[in-house]
Amino acid sequence: MAEAIDPILWFRRASPYIYLHRQKTFVLCLDDQAMSSDNVSNVLRDITLLHSLGVRIILVHGSCALDNTSPRDSKTVDSKRDDIKAWVSEVGGETHQLIAELSANAHHSSPFYSDLVACTGNFIRAQPLGVMNGEDQGPLGKTRKVNTSAISALLDDDMLVIVPPIGYSLTGETFVLDCKALAGQVAEALSADKLIYFLPTHGVQDESSQRVSELPKAQAIASLSKSHPGVTSGIDALLTSDLDAQSRRCHLVSHTHDGALLEELFTLTGSGTIITPGAALIRTATLNDIDAIRALVAPLEQSGALIPRSIDAIEKHLEDYIVLDLEGAIIGCGALHAFEDTAEIASLATHPGHRDQDYGERILSALLHKAAQKALPTVFVLTTQTEHWFLERGFMRSDQTALPLSKRATYDDRRNSKVLVRQL
Ligand SMILES: CC(C)(COP(=O)(O)OP(=O)(O)OC[C@H]1O[C@@H](n2cnc3c(N)ncnc32)[C@H](O)[C@@H]1OP(=O)(O)O)[C@@H](O)C(=O)NCCC(=O)NCCS
Repeated sequence: MAEAIDPILWFRRASPYIYLHRQKTFVLCLDDQAMSSDNVSNVLRDITLLHSLGVRIILVHGSCALDNTSPRDSKTVDSKRDDIKAWVSEVGGETHQLIAELSANAHHSSPFYSDLVACTGNFIRAQPLGVMNGEDQGPLGKTRKVNTSAISALLDDDMLVIVPPIGYSLTGETFVLDCKALAGQVAEALSADKLIYFLPTHGVQDESSQRVSELPKAQAIASLSKSHPGVTSGIDALLTSDLDAQSRRCHLVSHTHDGALLEELFTLTGSGTIITPGAALIRTATLNDIDAIRALVAPLEQSGALIPRSIDAIEKHLEDYIVLDLEGAIIGCGALHAFEDTAEIASLATHPGHRDQDYGERILSALLHKAAQKALPTVFVLTTQTEHWFLERGFMRSDQTALPLSKRATYDDRRNSKVLVRQL
């Protein structure tokens, strides 16, 4: 957050997110690269802050064992076994280093909150990878079961749970696990609300090196499969097509940029890439979408929920419209009509067959994001039947005096719409 802002305003802007994240379960994965970043102490301090705000945190960390050379490149199973002894003690050292840093940071983030308890344990039952392409993988293993009841009990006791990338078999052997895939498996087993991976960049970048703020799962997997295979397996594990999974999200956040985690979770514009379960993509409307937008809004205009807007009016202000495209079908839309120092949220609608899946929320977020990019201080909405939906999303009741003059002149007293305003 480079911009200098009023702390009171900042706190008010962050408060809906504080409320939203409280008592939610987040799995965070710090791989070897993130652990050796110069910024790791700041990341850990921010994780401690999240914990103090009531987020249930599981921290999965990784060591170089799978990412780099040893023990995968070792020639013999025996040498792999020798490697694992050294590696397990290295991971143990890293776990204890994390506990030490989290203990210190709990104190630094707030003088009133210094009793964070971080704990670890044998939460992961593992099995060997076995022989692959004729080569015995020795101590390399895969997750068989996550002890969710033990982890949940610790989270219920307000502890921060650290899961090292080690699993134990029923035969008493120790296995090395891929920390990124493990984070996904832990998140899936606990039905976590968020799975957060730390990368050297601000999430996914497009061809012109611009940050992509949101990606549907299929596109994220396609773009990360070569560079970050462990991350894609985690995304795939958590973001399933189950209805219950529709509100879950994965985030890709920078571990090199101080404050990136807080910026991603507590600001409208975020700092990384958020990955959503559905294939639905929000994009700017094109001429080809006008018929689909009309088809969506026409019944709502007839019922009085939306103010009628002609095809000509939509075409004239087409760049104001965004659509929610589900594999070619337009299942939602919304518009942001800018005035001098505010903007109107209008024509926000989702198809009745796709309601209650957070699509309305996503369209609203995209419109708010658009307004924030234009540096507008507020947005307003005129609504007859969805007052509470907007109030629950940070809008405040207001009246016609809050409208720009040109909008006030066209206010229809017969519709008697409620005027709601949201600070950005
Ligand atoms: C309002 C609207 C966009 C919400 O779409 P959606 O895709 O269902 O939105 P979400 O999935 O993000 O939100 C669903 C939640 O909002 C609640 N909700 C839906 N309509 C609501 C309303 N009119 N008032 C209050 N809450 C409402 C649902 O019960 C659900 O609550 P839950 O999460 O506690 O179960 C959709 O109902 C719609 O198209 N309405 C008609 C058009 C309209 O009035 N637009 C606003 C004027 S611009």
